[in-house]
Amino acid sequence: MRVLTVSGSLRASSSNTTLLEAAALVAAAGVRLERYSGLGELPHFNPDDDGENVSAHVREWRRQLQAADAVIFSTPEYAHGVPGSLKNALDWVVGSGELVGKPVALFNASARGVFAQGALTETLRVMSARVVEGVTVNLMGTKWEARQIAEDAAMAGLLRGGLRALGEAVTDGE
Ligand SMILES: Cc1cc2nc3c(=O)[nH]c(=O)nc-3n(C[C@H](O)[C@H](O)[C@H](O)COP(=O)(O)O)c2cc1C
Repeated sequence: MRVLTVSGSLRASSSNTTLLEAAALVAAAGVRLERYSGLGELPHFNPDDDGENVSAHVREWRRQLQAADAVIFSTPEYAHGVPGSLKNALDWVVGSGELVGKPVALFNASARGVFAQGALTETLRVMSARVVEGVTVNLMGTKWEARQIAEDAAMAGLLRGGLRALGEAVTDGE
């Protein structure tokens, strides 16, 4: 199973990116997590710029989504919303449809951020993604590295549970 992971934070030491790295460390054999790292390169969404001459960055984003069996988003909340860069990335695939029917899990590195989770869920549902699981691992106030998270039984258990549910959704959809 190929899972594309997308962090909604562009920060170099993002807790959401770290959480996704930890998920990759605890994933079962046969489950490969690959990180999408082009969020910051995508141009601002403009329907006029779509079509045959669309940016290579947009093509690559769509290609990686298409190639994935499932997707995990982990995002911070900014001003009670989804970070603009993540919403921008999603806007580029509303029309092209790479998320239609795709099993999607929402991970979250903060126990707060309920507005962003709700807004992201709504956006993904209206795009016809299959939102299957929410996993919150509260890293607020910690500076934990991925390895430490993966070695923590409780945190690793939460991540494995989310990955299992995602795997079941992929199998159910086949
Ligand atoms: C500009 C800005 C706005 C924020 N607004 C909120 C907010 O509305 N609600 C919230 O819970 N956290 C808010 N936060 C805190 C971040 O969501 C939180 O620190 C998050 O865990 C950072 O994720 P990261 O480590 O992956 O970058 C805000 C942070 C910034 C920089």
